[in-house]
Amino acid sequence: MNKPIGIFDSGIGGLTVAKAIADALPNETIIYFGDTAHLPYGDKSKESIIGYSKRITTFLLAKECKAIVIACNTASAHAYAELKTEFPNVPIINVIDPTVDYCLSKYQTGKIGIIATRGTIKSRIYPRKINKKNPNLEVPQAATPLLAPMIEEGFFNNNISKTIINSYLSNKNFDDIDALILACTHYPLIKKEVIAFFKRPVDVIDSATVVAEYTKKMLNALLG
Ligand code: DGL
Repeated sequence: MNKPIGIFDSGIGGLTVAKAIADALPNETIIYFGDTAHLPYGDKSKESIIGYSKRITTFLLAKECKAIVIACNTASAHAYAELKTEFPNVPIINVIDPTVDYCLSKYQTGKIGIIATRGTIKSRIYPRKINKKNPNLEVPQAATPLLAPMIEEGFFNNNISKTIINSYLSNKNFDDIDALILACTHYPLIKKEVIAFFKRPVDVIDSATVVAEYTKKMLNALLG
């Protein structure tokens, strides 16, 4: 039997990752868990997020999932290491490492901006991981805590989302960025609006496709 891939997020945002994985691996079955009972993760403590993530992973493994994808940046930042320790025999994929590797392969110098939840920004996981491998890259960050609840409530591609996005991105630290990582699973849904904000070419990167390609490679290598 071809066992399913388990994917979880705090809500609907991770469906962007699930869709990209379904496109990259059309013969796989996916079980998706959106933890809307505890949404948003972005403002919760590390301990709470580790607890939710362990419970969800236990649930998905009881459904015989052969691999787990943490399709949530905040949970990837706070709980990935703990999940790997707790479930050492299961491939666990987070959304941060493949995105960081993708950026490092594309940029040797320059400025890569990050927008994400407060939890992800406070963890400084992106600047730490990027600068560990390439200290020449500048990595300005901004927490954008209204964006995920806004998207979760269906507010995107309208005047309200445009106003909030413009307000967050009018940040002088982002004036001369070369790229911007949408470091939250919900943000691909506002990618067009983010691109439209910049009046010059800025490489707006979302993790969905990068993580899907990584998942495909990892599953092929590990499980054949
Ligand atoms: N899924 C979360 C993330 O990618 C965003 C929404 C939330 O705060 O729960 O960081």
